[in-house]
Amino acid sequence: MKQSMTGLVSLGLASVLLLAGCGKSDDVLVVGTNATFPPFEYVGGASGDEIQGFDIELAKQIAKDAGKTLKVENMNFDSLIVALNAGKIDFIASGMTITPERQASVDFSTPYYEATQLVLVNKDNTSINSIDDLKGKHIAVQLGSTGDIMAKTYSQKVTAFNTGFEAVMELKNNKVDLVLFDSEPAMSFLNKNPQLKMVELDFDAEFYGLAVPKGKTELLNSINATLTSMKSNGAYDALVTKYMK
Ligand code: ARG
Repeated sequence: MKQSMTGLVSLGLASVLLLAGCGKSDDVLVVGTNATFPPFEYVGGASGDEIQGFDIELAKQIAKDAGKTLKVENMNFDSLIVALNAGKIDFIASGMTITPERQASVDFSTPYYEATQLVLVNKDNTSINSIDDLKGKHIAVQLGSTGDIMAKTYSQKVTAFNTGFEAVMELKNNKVDLVLFDSEPAMSFLNKNPQLKMVELDFDAEFYGLAVPKGKTELLNSINATLTSMKSNGAYDALVTKYMK
């Protein structure tokens, strides 16, 4: 009897701690992101540790329209879907491309941005002029990204990093032949690294979506409603002007 009482008490305590630990309440909406993807999400601002960017502003408006406060959780890109399905975050805003594989485990909003992959090489490299030239090259990518998945279809030599920034460092140190990354962040890395250049190849278009756990229709509908209103009231275009070059 005594033992089971103690058991019950600690069970109760554990669930209180669990609830407190995940920091969720009804008036908070938790967005998960990987803030290494400028201009969509990056760490910056006056304090130097604020998470900012295009996706973060979309997320803020989504929370506002839902009458909630936004909380941002920064994590590795390849942990986002796991965190979402574990209930640690309510939705993902992370420049995530809508793919059939991901659609098997999450529901996506209507597409909100069109992108493509871009190749970055050192300026003296003239060996890549077509997708065919990627065959057998040593490619650096971000772990779990569409660039990662595509690179493996061209080459066996693919090194995946937790951030695109590390992939770019590897290229600058001549440890890889190229970086394959989404166009906007690739261009933002290019602006900071004059020793690099981009090569535009004939890659398919990709479409970014915000992701919710499967079956969370109410949240998905409110996300889509915010996207629709931001597109019609000019707020979306204002963000494009603010964040894209
Ligand atoms: N669009 C690519 C994908 O879905 C890369 C996204 C990376 N996003 C990020 N926040 N690091 O795989």
